[in-house]
Amino acid sequence: MTRRRARRGAKVGAGSMTQSFRTLRLDRVGRAFGAMNALRDVSFEVHRGEFVALLGPSGCGKSTALNCIAGLLPTTSGSIWLDDRRIDTLSPEERGFGMVFQNYALFPHMSVRDNVGFGLKMQKRAKDEIARKVDAALATVRLENQADKLPGQMSGGQQQRVAIARAIAIEPPLVLMDEPLSNLDAKLRLEMRQEIRRIHQGLGSITIYVTHDQDEALSLADRIVVLRDGMIRQIGAPHELYQTPRCSTSPTSWASATASPARWSHARATG
Ligand SMILES: Nc1ncnc2c1ncn2[C@@H]1O[C@H](COP(=O)(O)OP(=O)(O)OP(=O)(O)O)[C@@H](O)[C@H]1O
Ligand SMILES: [Mg+2]
Repeated sequence: MTRRRARRGAKVGAGSMTQSFRTLRLDRVGRAFGAMNALRDVSFEVHRGEFVALLGPSGCGKSTALNCIAGLLPTTSGSIWLDDRRIDTLSPEERGFGMVFQNYALFPHMSVRDNVGFGLKMQKRAKDEIARKVDAALATVRLENQADKLPGQMSGGQQQRVAIARAIAIEPPLVLMDEPLSNLDAKLRLEMRQEIRRIHQGLGSITIYVTHDQDEALSLADRIVVLRDGMIRQIGAPHELYQTPRCSTSPTSWASATASPARWSHARATG
């Protein structure tokens, strides 16, 4: 999100048009780059409270799909709906979704505190409310002692956590996360899975989570959308994908996954 775009969002009341809804629906969404179809006829529904993972190998269209939902990339065909309201014609600010980008996209000249509070400031919230919500978001991602640093003074993993805090600080109705844990070490990645699940439940919103990590998708998501070559190959709950895999369309064979059903349910149960 650019500053200019966010300012524009403040005028329309960021997210106010899309705050209450039950279902996000993609209807035959397509996105082409020249002759290359990055997404083809992508249709699925996500219901309020659900955590859905978009899973697939590099280049399959995961980020493209997320950016189309966020409004950062126009679709070339199909439509996107919140209940019966068409939203693919709305600006990103009018949609008001929280977004964690694959490359963080933090404002380099702003402190961590100002990065996290940016969306709230654009919504013209009171100073003490902004301070409270920023503190809470930073505590959630365990960066409460880093609030005065600049992003450039932090590790990649810390910047990724700032990006998560920025996305959740506005308490959005829909959170879009693009490989948010890819730069964290293994221990922190496992801890943050639990945190992300807890954040999702606390917000009571929809989370759409992009990953190429099968174990991550299985352990976090209520449902998984398997993408390959821009097309949906399978949609289902983790146990359904495990019991009835379409191995040729999954990034790796489900049967050979290191994950087990017991481990997948752990994060969801404790998160
Ligand atoms: N701006 C662009 N111009 C041209 N082609 C693009 C552009 N953005 C994405 N693509 C192409 O669209 C396809 C899907 O890209 P996308 O970034 O959505 O993949 P991805 O699943 O997110 O991959 P990764 O896991 O590596 O992030 C790729 O073939 C990519 O090269
Ligand atoms: Mg990507």
